[in-house]
Amino acid sequence: MDGGLRFDDWSRREVAAVESALQAWVPADTPAGLGVAMRYGVLDGGKRLRPLLVLAACSALGGEREAALRAAVAVELIHAYSLVHDDMPCMDNDVLRRGKPTVHVKFGEAQAMLAGDAMQALAFEVLTPEQGVEPALQARLVGLLARAAGHAGMAGGQAIDLASTGRRLGESVLRDMHRRKTGALLQASVLMGAACGAPAGATWQALSDYGAAIGLAFQVVDDILDVTQASETLGKTAGKDIDANKPTYVSVLGLEAARRHADELRDQAHAALERSGLAETGLLETLADKVVERES
Ligand code: IPE
Ligand code: IPE
Ligand code: MG
Ligand code: MG
Ligand code: MG
Repeated sequence: MDGGLRFDDWSRREVAAVESALQAWVPADTPAGLGVAMRYGVLDGGKRLRPLLVLAACSALGGEREAALRAAVAVELIHAYSLVHDDMPCMDNDVLRRGKPTVHVKFGEAQAMLAGDAMQALAFEVLTPEQGVEPALQARLVGLLARAAGHAGMAGGQAIDLASTGRRLGESVLRDMHRRKTGALLQASVLMGAACGAPAGATWQALSDYGAAIGLAFQVVDDILDVTQASETLGKTAGKDIDANKPTYVSVLGLEAARRHADELRDQAHAALERSGLAETGLLETLADKVVERES
């Protein structure tokens, strides 16, 4: 069968599994409508790339499906929470996300902040069931996700992002910011999927390198799409980075060099898969291509 078709079938099936797991996990019946705001922020929309990375890495290792599906839900909850807060007036002040008014526009700022807080807590609840996932694996998954979400990862990167607004950054500081604010969670997605199997040390290192490469590539491409695509395609406001005077790969390197860099990172991701020692890396290869070739 054609590889592209096989990927499309696989991703359609897995996105549907993630959607129904999210539907089941994110509660509607919570005090004062908090669950309604949470569901609005995380259901119906989003490419679900991070869950797909978890499930592809798990599948490449023949790992435990139940644990990987929980990890996929958890990582999407952290990602969706980061978007809710990223869009708030005190951060990027955006009104459009995933083709809809942002959570704070729809529900107010305080409810958006609480919905983000509750999504973050729920992510860790999903990872720590009474039964069904070995305690050692639970601890591993919680550690990977917590590190990627906190000061060393997403939240730290977002702090650098806000502190850098209106300033000129060199490429190495920019790279560090992007690796943290976006790369860390994508890399953790790959490693959480891998942790559901039993990777040898060299395989773990290769998948970590793969995750680092696609993680950075993802934000380089996000910076490119901000200047090359329309809001309708992106489902979020285009041209925000220039308006807000944010340092990006486009503002620092220029559009053509940013594109070349994304291609180099894709090559690095593919090379990492080649040295992983894994037999079945087709899904992860295609996901690296999608990160770089995507148009939204
Ligand atoms: C957007 O992420 C925010 C960044 C980290 C650049 P995605 O482009 O994955 O957003 P969704 O999940 O598809 O909406
Ligand atoms: C956001 O980066 C990274 C996050 C941790 C949410 P951006 O601010 O560029 O993301 P978009 O463009 O609003 O999706
Ligand atoms: Mg931002
Ligand atoms: Mg933003
Ligand atoms: Mg952006």
